[in-house]
Amino acid sequence: MVSGPEFRRVLKTVEDRCRKQSIYMVGPEKARFLRSLILRAKPRCVIECGTAIGYSGLHIADSLRRSGEGRLITVEINHERAMEAEQNFYKAGVGNIIDVRTGDAAVVLKEVYEAVDFLFLDNSYSNYHPCLLSIMPRLKDGAIIVADNVGIGASGMADYLTYVRSHFESRSHWFELDLPWASRDAMEVTIYTT
Ligand SMILES: C[S@@+](CC[C@H](N)C(=O)[O-])C[C@H]1O[C@@H](n2cnc3c(N)ncnc32)[C@H](O)[C@@H]1O
Repeated sequence: MVSGPEFRRVLKTVEDRCRKQSIYMVGPEKARFLRSLILRAKPRCVIECGTAIGYSGLHIADSLRRSGEGRLITVEINHERAMEAEQNFYKAGVGNIIDVRTGDAAVVLKEVYEAVDFLFLDNSYSNYHPCLLSIMPRLKDGAIIVADNVGIGASGMADYLTYVRSHFESRSHWFELDLPWASRDAMEVTIYTT
């Protein structure tokens, strides 16, 4: 369940724009999964790498609003997209719990100083492992790490997958896709332990 008519209107506008402009986004099935993880874990600080124009960020923020007092720091390398996402967050009424940062996520994350209990990786595949290494000193014991596109992008993030699968409890969750060029993809959920 997604809350409020104005929130739903903005979410729908963002989803339609992503589809029309071929801006990649997680899409409804994966968003539902992400929401369920956040509602269960009730994180206080979520980090997202790869904001685009805010589709997944809207879902994360709405789940945080429902589950407690958490906030989201989301990082996007493309300045225009970051600005558009920020506007969408304010229009949807969740701007006050989201901090949009611009730059290369692996670099920006080195300047996050709070403890992190949920990390969502959805930027360039080769950046997943560097992002994890940058934020690792801030990850709480038991933090949840979700990496998108581990089915279609496995070879581009082989370093990341090898690392999390050999160090932590890690599992792929598969989804059917309605994309013309891919029918299935997965998200990898990893439980970080110190
Ligand atoms: C798949 S899209 C993100 C989709 C978004 N999470 C959603 O579901 O709405 C990937 C985004 O990552 C951004 N990106 C690529 N490399 C990046 C990097 N090194 N640091 C931060 N953002 C990056 C791209 O500009 C793009 O907007």
